[in-house]
Amino acid sequence: MPTRLATAVANANIAFIKYWGNRDEKLRLPANSSLSMTLSGLETETTVEFSEGRAADEVIIGGQAQTGQARERVVAHLDTIRARAGIVWRARVESSNNFPVGAGIASSASAFAALSVAGAAAAGLDLTEPELSALARLGSGSAARSIPGGFVEWQAGSDDAPETSFAWSIAPPEHWDLVDVIAVVSQKHKAVGSTGGHALAGTSPLQAARVATAAERLQRCREALLTRDFPRFIEVVEADSNLMHAVMMTSTPPLFYWEPITLAIIKSVRRWRSEGLEVGYTIDAGPNVHCVCRSVSAAEVERRLRENLDVKTILVARPGGPARLRG
Ligand code: PMV
Repeated sequence: MPTRLATAVANANIAFIKYWGNRDEKLRLPANSSLSMTLSGLETETTVEFSEGRAADEVIIGGQAQTGQARERVVAHLDTIRARAGIVWRARVESSNNFPVGAGIASSASAFAALSVAGAAAAGLDLTEPELSALARLGSGSAARSIPGGFVEWQAGSDDAPETSFAWSIAPPEHWDLVDVIAVVSQKHKAVGSTGGHALAGTSPLQAARVATAAERLQRCREALLTRDFPRFIEVVEADSNLMHAVMMTSTPPLFYWEPITLAIIKSVRRWRSEGLEVGYTIDAGPNVHCVCRSVSAAEVERRLRENLDVKTILVARPGGPARLRG
């Protein structure tokens, strides 16, 4: 049967200024703009094959055929792509990650970025980077930031024009030698994923205060990043992560993503910095701690996590490139 196929690779990303809560849940228009680093080596590779005679979409992730919600979310994204391309062919989607999924290492970001790039190409759509970013956003908000490479800003965009909510690169990967040393303290799937979490953000009385002050933090973070001012940069990164977790912990029902080891790492990292090591932390919707440091400090941060805190699994990622077609 006639087929059209494309394969794409996309990297995960870590937010320095977080996205938490949507103005529009369905369109994933975020409550605030955010800023991130695309992570080299933490990849999703996805192949989309549309076939004329196929009866239904088939979704395979990590070798497992998906059913239920995980499949529905991919099918909904394929429907968006098909509607834009004016095609009706069903697809086979095969995807694999080289890092643990569902534990606060934004696997949905690289997954929907790769699905968008491969799906659009296989469907014959010729999209610009902003268009791909806005498309990826519909699958998972943070996926908008896994389309560009290096240091990335995602603007909240306007309500009247959802296509204005996309991400772009503000500096290439080689701009700054930052390293994300990720202490993987749990590989379990979290009880409440980020889609459910975003919907609860507005129930916290702290969300309005977080959102009202997000633009100022983003500006401070962008300036510190562009001038490579580590002390100023890491101060705002930690404050922003703390604020997001305060919102999570005070929503109804409350979301506690941290484990005891998470707080132990936070306290150690702050002590190490007061002793002169250039390192700080940021945490997503999970218990794992992203220790953000300069390249010169990365080996020492990794050693201390292993020896002082008994962290067994550590991933190390540097600034990475944009999502791309393979082959
Ligand atoms: O894209 P989502 O729905 O998985 O949301 C990601 C939310 C955080 O990772 C917690 C923060 C962020 O900006 O990446």
